Amino acid sequence: MHAKEIRNGIKVLASVHWERRLFDALIPLPDGTSYNAYLVEGSEATALIDSTDPELRDELIGELDPGKPIDYVVSHHGEQDHSGVIPEILERYPGATVLCSSKARELLMTHLHLPEDRIRVVDDGESVSLGDKTLTFVYTPWVHWPETMVTYVPEAKVLFSCDFFGSHVATTDTYVVDRGRVYEAAKRYYAEIMMPFRRVIQNNLDKVDGLDIDLIAPSHGPIYDDPGFIVDAYRDWVAPSMKNEVVLPYVSMHGSTYRMAMHLVDALSRRGVTVHAFDLAVTDIGKLAIALVDAATLIVGTPTVHVGPHPAVYQAAHLANLLRPKLRHAAIIGSYGWNSRAVEQISSLIPNLNVTVLGTVLQKGMPTDDTFAELDRIADAVAEAHRAEALVA
Ligand code: FEO
Repeated sequence: MHAKEIRNGIKVLASVHWERRLFDALIPLPDGTSYNAYLVEGSEATALIDSTDPELRDELIGELDPGKPIDYVVSHHGEQDHSGVIPEILERYPGATVLCSSKARELLMTHLHLPEDRIRVVDDGESVSLGDKTLTFVYTPWVHWPETMVTYVPEAKVLFSCDFFGSHVATTDTYVVDRGRVYEAAKRYYAEIMMPFRRVIQNNLDKVDGLDIDLIAPSHGPIYDDPGFIVDAYRDWVAPSMKNEVVLPYVSMHGSTYRMAMHLVDALSRRGVTVHAFDLAVTDIGKLAIALVDAATLIVGTPTVHVGPHPAVYQAAHLANLLRPKLRHAAIIGSYGWNSRAVEQISSLIPNLNVTVLGTVLQKGMPTDDTFAELDRIADAVAEAHRAEALVA
């Protein structure tokens, strides 16, 4: 997409990936994505901030004026969707130096084979002058890898944040227009790549809070001209508090687990608990990750396949374990034909979750009135646990 000036001498060079539907061969992108590079032209030097995914290399290269020098290439993050075109930029601009964090140096050399003598490490808090503009670097580890940093330009009050605050949205809008859409996309992104590191993210929020910011310019999605919108959202997501919510991923083969899951949805709802249920056979796993950000309880529903849980449940349980959500309670429900070790196997898949198990119900064959009574007891226990933590109004 054509370059757009967002402040005097600062342009966004957005490559919009309308058709991309999967990131890292794992993360669903229902709204596509964009990779934003930025050109900061000072009175004495020019910096390119990040690049783009190699697949959209033409979009970025086509917006750069070969007659104007680039003195610095700021690499916030070694992942290739931002760094992948830096090797070509260095070939095209032989006078350019890459500026990156101390941990990024080795990553850029191993992932992109950047020559060591083209890289200059900048310290946390260090500034580099472009003349009438200054680049100030702030280390913000784990947004999304350990080497990540952001750049602040005080003269323009712009924070270039790379993955931090980003949203996977393909759009021609330079700034956030549809807040609901961007909020969900940003929450999806936070849930999938930053949630496991939320205590570090909290520190990073504190670091950028001290800056006077008019624009937050991420490397995915539209720019925030009201930074408080996304900073407040992040503060809510990383806060230790949870909501009166249950996440219930389930899968069913012949209807027994489905009946049990739906009974529990109704029973919890009658007790004032919000439930997010996901049929793992068809769900967007990103929606599940979003729901895990705030929930206090996880209830897993599974049929039995060769004595263990359904493979889709393995994947969901493994994902929840990787993402380390705040969850405090759990339960396991499901069914089997002749024998099952699903409860034991699911329990062994989630060692990272610091949860109290409020109950398990594993039904042989079709659920009965006794089964539903057991599920009601789980619903009682969940509602009571949420009340004890003052989550229920
Ligand atoms: Fe958008 Fe971690 O890369």
